[in-house]
Amino acid sequence: MADQKNVALKIKRQDNPTAKPRWEEFEIPWKRGMNVTSCLMEIAASPVTRQGTATTPITYDSNCLEEVCGSCAMLINGRARMACSALVDQLERPIRLEPFSKFPVVRDLSVDRTVLFENLKRVKAWVPVDGTYDLGAGPRMSMDDQEAAYPLSRCISCCCCMEACPQFTESTGFVGAAAISQVRLFNTHPTGAALKRERLVALMGDGGIQECGYAQNCVEVCPKDIPLTRSISQVGGEVIKQALSDWFRK
Ligand code: SF4
Ligand code: SF4
Ligand code: FES
Repeated sequence: MADQKNVALKIKRQDNPTAKPRWEEFEIPWKRGMNVTSCLMEIAASPVTRQGTATTPITYDSNCLEEVCGSCAMLINGRARMACSALVDQLERPIRLEPFSKFPVVRDLSVDRTVLFENLKRVKAWVPVDGTYDLGAGPRMSMDDQEAAYPLSRCISCCCCMEACPQFTESTGFVGAAAISQVRLFNTHPTGAALKRERLVALMGDGGIQECGYAQNCVEVCPKDIPLTRSISQVGGEVIKQALSDWFRK
């Protein structure tokens, strides 16, 4: 049984985006129901390493503390997951915390996830209504479509799927599973579908859906259980149909 008196952690630290990373070890008192974020708060209250050396509080991102904002994603014992919902009693110890490896480190466990938002812009992941004048009521969405869309709308932009994806690298420029799933969401929306062709065209060619090797790592780590592989196969089929229809129209 895990030690219920103390919790040991090994944390990878980096002072700035270009500094050399280093590891620090900590030991904090165990409390019932602790999660990784509460461990980081405990360390911040008294930033002293296990060896007794004074250090600085760990920098990390966090906001909602209930797996909704997506900000606290990091590598916990090597797996991409959310710190606020990672319960200490369910983790092997010492708990190893590292920043995501595929995103630029800002400091310690905080990374820059701009690439996801750039990819969402690339695929126009929005409903094209700017609110400058009243368009009246939009078309109704069937219950079946609503039920299919709801799980896709639960994405919290955490980037776990991109971190875990073997194809998400600088050399491929792959948009990643989250952006592809948002294409499926907005293309099934009655008003959002106005941009359907543009979204599918954005997924053709380099960095597009063809880069996916269907390894399914993404769906395994998604904290919101989004059916990512179903989105990838459905959108993949639509991309092919769109490419063929564009080709015949030439
Ligand atoms: S199926 Fe595999 S290659 Fe495709 S997005 Fe998911 S993890 Fe990446
Ligand atoms: S699809 Fe899942 S893993 Fe990927 S960003 Fe959205 S919530 Fe996170
Ligand atoms: S703090 Fe919001 S998801 Fe963890």
